[in-house]
Amino acid sequence: MKQTERANFGSKLGIILATAGSAVGLGNVWRFPYMTGQNGGAAFILIYFACVLILAIPCMISEFIIGRRGQANAVRSFEKIGGRGWKIIGVMGVITGFLICSFYSVVSGWCLEYIYASVAGQLEGNPDYVRTYYNAFVSSPWKPLLCLVVFLLMTHLIIVRGVERGIEKASKLMMPVLFVLLIGIVAASCMLPGASNGISYMFKPDWQSVSSGVFLSALGQAFFSLSLGMGCLVTYASYFNRQTDLTKASIQIALIDSLIAILAGLMIFPAAFAVGVSPDSGPSLVFITLPNVFREAFAAVPAVSYVVAIMFYALLTLAALTSLISLHEVCTSYLHEELHISRHRGAIIVTAICLVLGVLCSLSLGAYPEIQLFGMSLFDLFDYVTSQYLMPIGGFLTCLLLGWFVPKPISRDEFTNGGTLRGQFFTIYFFLVRYVCPIAILFIFLHQFGVL
Ligand code: PHE
Repeated sequence: MKQTERANFGSKLGIILATAGSAVGLGNVWRFPYMTGQNGGAAFILIYFACVLILAIPCMISEFIIGRRGQANAVRSFEKIGGRGWKIIGVMGVITGFLICSFYSVVSGWCLEYIYASVAGQLEGNPDYVRTYYNAFVSSPWKPLLCLVVFLLMTHLIIVRGVERGIEKASKLMMPVLFVLLIGIVAASCMLPGASNGISYMFKPDWQSVSSGVFLSALGQAFFSLSLGMGCLVTYASYFNRQTDLTKASIQIALIDSLIAILAGLMIFPAAFAVGVSPDSGPSLVFITLPNVFREAFAAVPAVSYVVAIMFYALLTLAALTSLISLHEVCTSYLHEELHISRHRGAIIVTAICLVLGVLCSLSLGAYPEIQLFGMSLFDLFDYVTSQYLMPIGGFLTCLLLGWFVPKPISRDEFTNGGTLRGQFFTIYFFLVRYVCPIAILFIFLHQFGVL
């Protein structure tokens, strides 16, 4: 495919918002709070931010370099910059894309159900009632499946409209509204009686509670939340233009993503403590705590509570949609460009595979718990394997490639946009990808397995 034929994001703002749209999603609002809760609170958050700053940002710049240089899907971009053998990172990325798409669309479907339930006023009740509602919904044999199908079809329709008209336009509109609404809900949550316990849970580290798995969980969460280590940002960077400042873009995206994660924590934990929901209750945390926030915080004006609940789930759905689009795009662009089939047909194949895997994931959580592998439900297994193994390994290999195998002038040229940007940060970046990132990621793995 010739360079000029490739689609591009239309503007600077479009690039940032579309990429941030991929990063910001259920990873921030659903996964970050429950991972924080399961890993002991503030100490996890600090380790998480260290991972973002020292490991994730350099990995993100590396993926941008590979994608913009490669001007192709993830597999081809890795092959172009590193040679045949390195294409394996791209292949791993496409496989990871399918796995994440599958369980991600299940949770996205839950958001759709919660929009409906909020409109119908079905979430109004005490914490026990809300918990029962969640459990009954998740284990119903058909409701979550219906939501999953609707969600995947919505994603499919945007994907076939193409990069600029579909992805970019959607992100530009949704991101700012989500941000404003989040701030409003944080304020409401922090004003609940007893909320201060939740705030100190988030900001006062208890180093005693740091177990050996916390480091890999924090690293995995950083990669998951920033869409790293699976070719997603390589694919998006192939739509960047030559003027994009890659370092600036990666810092901006990491900042936006971290801010939203912190806001999500500030929305969930004060409320969880106020209404007596345990912070380590896992994937159900957001879905059980929030309806209580809406009910209690706005008790004086029920109409406000009603509208805020609907808007919140609608925006979470949209945030999930922009992330799912980027996951889908990794797989679609691969099939389209490598198998020489139309984008349309590629998208149909991806949607069909995700539908089958997604249905199995959803059933494994509720109606058919016997759908298990290695002692975990399929849903948990896909979540665990992708974020704790495939993504950090993808990031590790990407850093090895750029730090040791790609000639330095090539990365410098891409980093500085052909010498037009000042390159004083290149030395720091190069030191981080060559030494710090591979050694730290390796260290975290060895620590996880008890070797160190
Ligand atoms: N970063 C997204 C989120 O936080 C999830 C995602 C992972 C998207 C990997 C694309 C690739 O919700």
